[in-house]
Amino acid sequence: MGGELSAQCESVAAIILAAGKGTRMKSEQAKVLHCVLGQPLLFRVLRVLEGLESSLNVVVVGHQAEKVEQTCREAQIDKVAFALQSEQKGTGHAVQSAMPTLEGFDGRVLILNGDMPLMTPDILRGLLEQAQKEDAALTLLTAISAQHRDFGRIIRTDDGQVKRIQEAKDCSPEEYAVQEVNVGAYCAKADFLRKFLPKLTSSNAQGELYLTDLVSLGYEAGEKVTAVITQDISCALGVNSRADLARASAILKERKLHELMLSGVSVIDPASTWIEEGVQVGPDSEIWPGTVLQGNTQIGRDCVIGPNTQITDSIIGQNARVVHSVLNEATVGNGVNIGPFAYLRPKANISDNVKIGDFVEIKNSNIGLGTKVPHLTYVGDSDIGSKTNLGCGTITCNYDGQAKHRTVIGDNVFIGSNSSLVAPVKIGDGAKTGAGAVIIRDVAPGTVVVGVPAHDIVAK
Ligand code: UD1
Ligand code: CA
Repeated sequence: MGGELSAQCESVAAIILAAGKGTRMKSEQAKVLHCVLGQPLLFRVLRVLEGLESSLNVVVVGHQAEKVEQTCREAQIDKVAFALQSEQKGTGHAVQSAMPTLEGFDGRVLILNGDMPLMTPDILRGLLEQAQKEDAALTLLTAISAQHRDFGRIIRTDDGQVKRIQEAKDCSPEEYAVQEVNVGAYCAKADFLRKFLPKLTSSNAQGELYLTDLVSLGYEAGEKVTAVITQDISCALGVNSRADLARASAILKERKLHELMLSGVSVIDPASTWIEEGVQVGPDSEIWPGTVLQGNTQIGRDCVIGPNTQITDSIIGQNARVVHSVLNEATVGNGVNIGPFAYLRPKANISDNVKIGDFVEIKNSNIGLGTKVPHLTYVGDSDIGSKTNLGCGTITCNYDGQAKHRTVIGDNVFIGSNSSLVAPVKIGDGAKTGAGAVIIRDVAPGTVVVGVPAHDIVAK
């Protein structure tokens, strides 16, 4: 009771262990930078902490420290500090390296392995609340699992008290058979850590300072060491290999697709659909097989996306269709029809009711209301009005070998097939160009130009 009262005012900090190389990944890249469902492992762990009122999150970095720090900064995650573990001498040593950053802090410290992308805020909150309620010096998260064979085993006394964690590599056959395993999330009082971390030794199979030895040290000194057994075994997945990485992505993806389906989105074939966590899709939209939706993509309601479409960091309105196409940082309005085989690049800004057909590439261009770009066309650095038609094979020649220039096309313009528009150039409202025209000078509104280079003929 008294414990609960003080618990409410107690401050919480977190330490995330992210210094290891991740030898089993067989990679030059630090393990925590490998992505699950499009996000570095470490982001996921930090995002989970966002949901808890932790006053400071100390990330222990070592292998590729600078790159890890830079990636965290890019993610703009709040209240993060970094502690350097220049030599990786084990998880206990990693926490020792973080303690100077928490100097003067005297609440509870959540300690998390940085390779647990399926951890959830609810599970951590449960761990923290239990630690506070019991007023324990150290509380561990455990799971009952016959699968996690390389995890540390929880060794309890006959009356069920946690007395030790035995790492798989140090287990006797009897210990190896134990099914209660250490998930890799802990809650400890800061003063407990200060007192017992210096007592860790490396007399074990791996010659490392094991964080897990705090359990026996605490138990033997009569400190209160407790455990919370989680029912959600999936949260325990620790990524050690690329196979684990794929498994983690698959679970996260399944969660995301499930959430979308519950909210009214049809995912025709979940197995062949990849949708990252930051993606939003409106109700009554259909996602067809082979679709990849990434980053901060937003899709409105009543859309049909796919089959075989990749959309990254793009915004799509309502009632749009995108088939067999690739969109990257594009903005697309309502009622737009895209593909098959269209490529929209950054700053392609497509207004309502536009048609973008097959083999069309658009970048850094505005396409006005109801305009049609039906086939085999390149539009770069252009502003195109409404109800205009670009014939098959239209090319905006935006690059003169030195600099990029803009093409401006008005409303109700008709560009004949196979026209080349040599930028900078302007085509006035209602103008027409003949098939094969090469337009090197501005075209006045309502006029018709033909030929190479294009010249006026009298408008009809
Ligand atoms: C650890 C636990 C094990 C638990 C398992 C759950 C220890 C000794 N063992 O084993 O009981 O069942 O996690 O997944 O803690 N790290 C550092 N510095 C180091 C070493 C590791 O920052 O010197 C970081 C790694 O980057 C990683 C995390 O600590 O994010 C865990 O290290 P890892 O080597 O994967 O531990 P496990 O052998 O999996
Ligand atoms: Ca691990």
